[in-house]
Amino acid sequence: MQPKKITIPDIRNRKNGTPISVMTAYDYPWARMVDAAGIDIALVGDSLGMVVLGYPDTVSVTMEEMLHHTKAVVRGVEHALVVADLPFGSYNSSIPAAINNATRMLKEGRADAVKLEGGVAMAGVVEAIVRAGIPVQGHIGLTPQTATSLGGFKVQGKSAKAAQQLIEDAKALEAAGCFSIVLEAIPAPLAEHITGQVAIPTIGIGAGPGCDGQVLVIHDLVGLYDHFTPKFVKQYARISEPIAAALAQYKAEVENRTFPTEAHSFTMKSEEMDKLLRLY
Ligand code: KIV
Repeated sequence: MQPKKITIPDIRNRKNGTPISVMTAYDYPWARMVDAAGIDIALVGDSLGMVVLGYPDTVSVTMEEMLHHTKAVVRGVEHALVVADLPFGSYNSSIPAAINNATRMLKEGRADAVKLEGGVAMAGVVEAIVRAGIPVQGHIGLTPQTATSLGGFKVQGKSAKAAQQLIEDAKALEAAGCFSIVLEAIPAPLAEHITGQVAIPTIGIGAGPGCDGQVLVIHDLVGLYDHFTPKFVKQYARISEPIAAALAQYKAEVENRTFPTEAHSFTMKSEEMDKLLRLY
């Protein structure tokens, strides 16, 4: 039986229901694994700039890079909703540019929805994109694209004043038409409070258990990115270790000629080889 494709109303209806599982995916094989695991949302995060492309942060990621990876993820997914990040600079210069780039993410990338960072300040942009018929997921708290302005990769909303701003941000995004909001790196009690203040699902990352869903970066989850591991990451596997062992064994076997064996080689008729040898 074909797995049922998850829709935006399905996600909205999970408010206060079974928590929503979200996992990043950046290419076809990982998208297939995420989908086969029954994850609800495959997020083509611009974190791909760091964990796949080797940039120091997410700021350099371009629309073309996001489109390239989104297309690959969409080809690997049958069930999950595919949400693609709008990269820095693709939605903050003007509303027409934001609509144009969000449209490209659906029309060319074939994503189901886009995600963008920012609260009250981005509400007008969100509203315009939603009015153009494109579902938007918000993202507040620690917003990596503007982490420099926030003083680095730091927990947000720790004072009552900063927390109040995050509540305003969440409400503005809900009013602008977001179907859900990512809450990144904020204290757990605040995330739970925000979750109770909005009627759309919240998806936490470093925001405690009181959200309507959770998201992690897949390279962090499986131990494939070792430059920096935030406190909120739970490493469920360390797959870089068996990969390193396989590579070391391959190198040794190439060097000592134990790979390839007959089992990995092709044959030809000996008379054909004899004919060839008579020629040379
Ligand atoms: O880019 C990303 O992967 C994200 C998640 C961490 C929420 O925005």
